[in-house]
Amino acid sequence: MKAVKKVTWKEELAAKTLRIEELIKTYLPKEKGFQKTIVQASNYSVCAGGKRLRPMLMEETYRLFGGDGPEIFPFMAAIEMIHTSSLVHDDLPCMDNDEYRRGRKTTWVEFGYDMAVLAGDALLTFAFETAAGAFSDTRHPERVGRAIQILAGKTGMYGMIGGQTVDVEMTEKPMTEEQLDFVYRLKTGALLEASMMIGAVLAGADEESIKQTEYAASLVGMAFQIQDDILDLTSTTEILGKPVGSDEKNQKTTYVTLHGLEQSRSDVEKISRKAIEVLKGLPGENEFLLQLIQMLITREK
Ligand code: IPE
Ligand code: IPE
Ligand code: MG
Ligand code: MG
Ligand code: MG
Repeated sequence: MKAVKKVTWKEELAAKTLRIEELIKTYLPKEKGFQKTIVQASNYSVCAGGKRLRPMLMEETYRLFGGDGPEIFPFMAAIEMIHTSSLVHDDLPCMDNDEYRRGRKTTWVEFGYDMAVLAGDALLTFAFETAAGAFSDTRHPERVGRAIQILAGKTGMYGMIGGQTVDVEMTEKPMTEEQLDFVYRLKTGALLEASMMIGAVLAGADEESIKQTEYAASLVGMAFQIQDDILDLTSTTEILGKPVGSDEKNQKTTYVTLHGLEQSRSDVEKISRKAIEVLKGLPGENEFLLQLIQMLITREK
């Protein structure tokens, strides 16, 4: 009898990440035409790697609710484009002024400030063009419409951009617990909420489940940003692929400056466990999704 090698969780994660990587590539624009530079700058940032966490959470939530259609794929590519556009702009000299991202020079260093502004805009816009492509391959156009509305809402001024606004405004200023909570919920939480909610909506989850999914995702987002702050203080540029000490350089108030490292670490764990508990209460099962959120507690990059 042939021995069957058991696939470890880490191997499964690596295989899924690779598959998402390949999927995203199929949606990228072609580098041709007079405006080629902006396509190159956009693809440069998307292709630099990254954990692909948002499309992964989206797909896993879709599977949790039994989704099995093709309409999820353009949305997976779209959320990663939007996330990447937020990183391209976040690194600009007028924002966090950082020179490394995903293990390479940031888009503005490589292509210039002007092209990086345009690349962020281009990616953001192309994301919606990509997501709208789902209409041509779905049995549920009304779900696709709602998913696009969620994607826009969670990205815009009541979502990620709203959070980044206050983050930038409050640079070098002290923030209250309440302001910090607002910033984290929006700048980081909103796109994670969009990811998981869209998975739920496209799979046809009921309203109460969609609400609970949004809540679980907001917890994941909070824990994720606190861990990002911790790593900014404790990791290395080699491991992170982005500069450490960026928050201190910009004199940002972070969760760690308000609560200290030890408390922050235990809160990441506590908040993540709550997210897992909420997801366990939903109809449907997806062990990988729970393990993924568990893994984020101790992530090193
Ligand atoms: C970085 O996000 C920005 C934050 C919201 C903290 P990720 O840590 O998911 O970055 P990539 O996609 O893996 O590069
Ligand atoms: C990022 O927060 C939030 C975004 C919407 C991009 P940070 O500024 O802490 O993210 P990093 O550390 O540069 O990835
Ligand atoms: Mg920032
Ligand atoms: Mg930054
Ligand atoms: Mg950070």
